[in-house]
Amino acid sequence: MRSTDSRCLELSRTEDGLDTLAAAIRNCRKCGLAEQRQHAVPGEGNHRARLMFIGEAPGAKEDQSGRPFVGPSGKFLEQLFAENGIRRDAVFITSCVKCRPPGNRTPSIGELTTCVNSWLLPQIQCIDPKIIVLCGRVAALGLLGEPIKISKAHGTLVERNGRNYFISYHPAAGIRFPKIAAAMRSDFKMLAHLVG
Ligand code: URA
Repeated sequence: MRSTDSRCLELSRTEDGLDTLAAAIRNCRKCGLAEQRQHAVPGEGNHRARLMFIGEAPGAKEDQSGRPFVGPSGKFLEQLFAENGIRRDAVFITSCVKCRPPGNRTPSIGELTTCVNSWLLPQIQCIDPKIIVLCGRVAALGLLGEPIKISKAHGTLVERNGRNYFISYHPAAGIRFPKIAAAMRSDFKMLAHLVG
């Protein structure tokens, strides 16, 4: 899961690196998800962000608009940002998989691995954030490379290959379950403290 796009390495930490990746993501046909998408969703935000938020895959609103977290999950994420003094335009928001899986099904391991290796790892390389927030089980699997129990691991910071990952739930789970919303509120308070 660890290969990095060499084009991006060359362009690393330049504005062009992320823009080049976004253009390539919009044209990607590496897996079957390209067949049914309206728009691929590369992600958006500050190219020098200290915090990077990573979800699972676009939903219906994201597929329509080409923008990440603009549906109900995004509204909840924005509430958590506002409660903790985090500005949406100061961070970078994206997902492991850049195209909507039909019916919002969970991405397959092949789709996840292809998209993470081809696009997400190079994006991380370009942004070089201080903390990468893994929102949910699929994001944790995609970047840590192993299944973890979010109910045990949420609110913790783990270091892998020189990167800091903060684990929390996916906002969609927070919308459905009040207990998870409360856990996310406490995670985000800790996160705001960690990032200073
Ligand atoms: N869920 C995600 O994981 N990503 C989005 O962009 C929207 C919903």
